[in-house]
Amino acid sequence: MNETTNVIEMRHIVKDFNGFKANDDINLTLKQGEILALLGENGAGKSTLMSILSGLMMPTAGEIKVRGQEVAVKNPTVAKDLGIGMVHQHFMLMDSFTVLENIILGHEPSHGPKLDFTKAKQEIEALSDCYNLNVDPLKKVSEITVAQQQRVEILKILYRGADIMIFDEPTAVLTPQEITEFIQILKELAAEGKSIILITHKLEEIKRTADEVTVIRAGQSVGTFKVKEVSDNRLAELMVGRHVNMQLDKPSTELGQTMLKVDKLKVKNRQAVWALKGLSFDLRGGEILGVAGIDGNGQDELVRALTGLQHVDSGHVIIADQDMTNQNVRKITSSGVAHIPADRQKYGLILPFSVAANLSLQTYYQAPFSKYNVMHHEVINKFADDLIDQYDIRTKGSAEPVGDLSGGNQQKVIIARELSRDSNLIIAFQPTRGLDVGAIEYIHQQLLLERAKGKAILLVSYELDEIMQLSDRIIVLHDGTISGEVKPEETSDEELGLLMTGFKKEGTTLA
Ligand SMILES: Nc1ncnc2c1ncn2[C@@H]1O[C@H](COP(=O)(O)OP(=O)(O)OP(=O)(O)O)[C@@H](O)[C@H]1O
Ligand SMILES: [Mg+2]
Repeated sequence: MNETTNVIEMRHIVKDFNGFKANDDINLTLKQGEILALLGENGAGKSTLMSILSGLMMPTAGEIKVRGQEVAVKNPTVAKDLGIGMVHQHFMLMDSFTVLENIILGHEPSHGPKLDFTKAKQEIEALSDCYNLNVDPLKKVSEITVAQQQRVEILKILYRGADIMIFDEPTAVLTPQEITEFIQILKELAAEGKSIILITHKLEEIKRTADEVTVIRAGQSVGTFKVKEVSDNRLAELMVGRHVNMQLDKPSTELGQTMLKVDKLKVKNRQAVWALKGLSFDLRGGEILGVAGIDGNGQDELVRALTGLQHVDSGHVIIADQDMTNQNVRKITSSGVAHIPADRQKYGLILPFSVAANLSLQTYYQAPFSKYNVMHHEVINKFADDLIDQYDIRTKGSAEPVGDLSGGNQQKVIIARELSRDSNLIIAFQPTRGLDVGAIEYIHQQLLLERAKGKAILLVSYELDEIMQLSDRIIVLHDGTISGEVKPEETSDEELGLLMTGFKKEGTTLA
């Protein structure tokens, strides 16, 4: 095959869900050995299109050619036989199995009637070495990090012979350092002749990684562009259909009273190891305090301890002058704490419930949603319709199960619910994970509006850009302690990077 061979051609793809066209005449071409980015706003139809290519669903209309041959990708086995493998956004690994067992599951090599583990282990090690994946086949999946789990997913499709590889938002769960390593892996795979489709909302990643980018909007093709020839602004405009302001305007605000005081907080994690080792800081109304740090340095435990999801071993959490240490979730939320959790499907939503039910999940038992213990569905539905409008949640209606929404639109449901609630303190953990640039702009503006209203906002994020743009002050978490406190206008990515790896800032006054 020469360099310009098309390995995939998708033509006029249509996918109709009961009259709603998630894909409405989309074209996509993938060339041998290239990295093609697939870009589109939340709900544009990217995951749907890739599910069709990997045999998870059949298109309503359209044609797919693989290496020039027209094919019907009826199921994932057909896709596998065609050399197509997909790494899904939510990993599909068994926690209690080893890496090796996960990789060979369903494709076990045998030696007579017996499983040939030795052969499998050798093959996996060879693949892991070849692409620098650094995975130990004998570790249990529950013992390895998210980034390593992702490498297991990559090994899984390599082991099954994939040379056309699809990644659906692979970097949403990775830290900046892990993203750099992941991009390196993608480039090595492409250099070896693999052809890759990469879904990401991060324009900067597309710039670093892809040769071409195919843009879709509202289920339709917008076009395919050479990455070198198109600017970030133009890409943002193409995908959302309007100008996106990537620079935020952050007016100064007056600081109010202390809304959150964390005092010598000590918390053990699930493995009974100290995750927070005596953390102290405070946060006032009208202020955004950014918490920066590499994933796994106590962020999870901090947010869980503040919201009542985790037992505090010692120290105090004072919210608006009330001691809320080890109080239950309902008491904390109803006292005026909004919480945008990092894992939207686990803690933020009830997937089979409707959009309306999810939007009133924290308030359905209060007036005006309920009276004398009877729920008022008209009020709940009207409230939902207003939020759907205001936050541009792409849904077929407030009665649709929230699980049918695209990933980014599920996130918008949580944000709409939490920001529309009466609160003094907003705890936002990775609030824009998986959102497109247009939605990020909107959410950032909303957070600034809440700040202008005098609310206190704790922003925990792995996105340094987000922390730098929004925060008034930044604390850096390292190994359960604060390695430094800085102001965004007085620091740099380099200084933050050093603090994140544990270099203490001189003159730090915090415990
Ligand atoms: N199984 C389904 N039933 C009904 N509607 C669906 C189903 N799957 C997806 N949709 C709808 O199709 C549209 C496209 O969804 P898709 O998941 O492809 O978007 P996406 O581009 O991947 O968005 P995101 O960036 O938010 O992940 C959405 O409006 C979604 O609600
Ligand atoms: Mg998607």
